Amino acid sequence: MELIELLAEAEKVCNRAYAPYSNFRVGSALLTKDDRVITGVNVENRSFGLTNCAERTALFTALTQGIDEFKAIAIYAPDGDEPTSPCGACRQVLSEFVKPDFPVIFGNSLENYVISTLGELLPYYGLEHLKDR
Ligand code: THU
Repeated sequence: MELIELLAEAEKVCNRAYAPYSNFRVGSALLTKDDRVITGVNVENRSFGLTNCAERTALFTALTQGIDEFKAIAIYAPDGDEPTSPCGACRQVLSEFVKPDFPVIFGNSLENYVISTLGELLPYYGLEHLKDR
């Protein structure tokens, strides 16, 4: 599956976001090693810190289903003026399960998106060679 198709899967679910506090909907789609798509949305709470981002919802759902090998993740956030990248917590949590070359696509529409990797988004992860400098 192409990354843009994975972004379209994230778009399909973003309206299920529970985001009454921020009004910022996010959908995520995780492509598993065996080409299944596991989705997630952000789930907010009146105690803001308890909010779960769409990416972690997707990841935790996959793990709950016994799936722990992944090919890529997409994040679709239509309420942003620009593509929204994963938050620091989600980058850190993802790093438990995927390598630095793991592709991450994020967009605010299917025409406006960024393609990156977890290693780019999480400095020093996968950059162990810098220790030699
Ligand atoms: N959010 C996500 O679900 N994923 C991201 O990558 C960025 C932020 C959610 C958290 C909160 O519910 C809302 O977006 C506003 O920050």
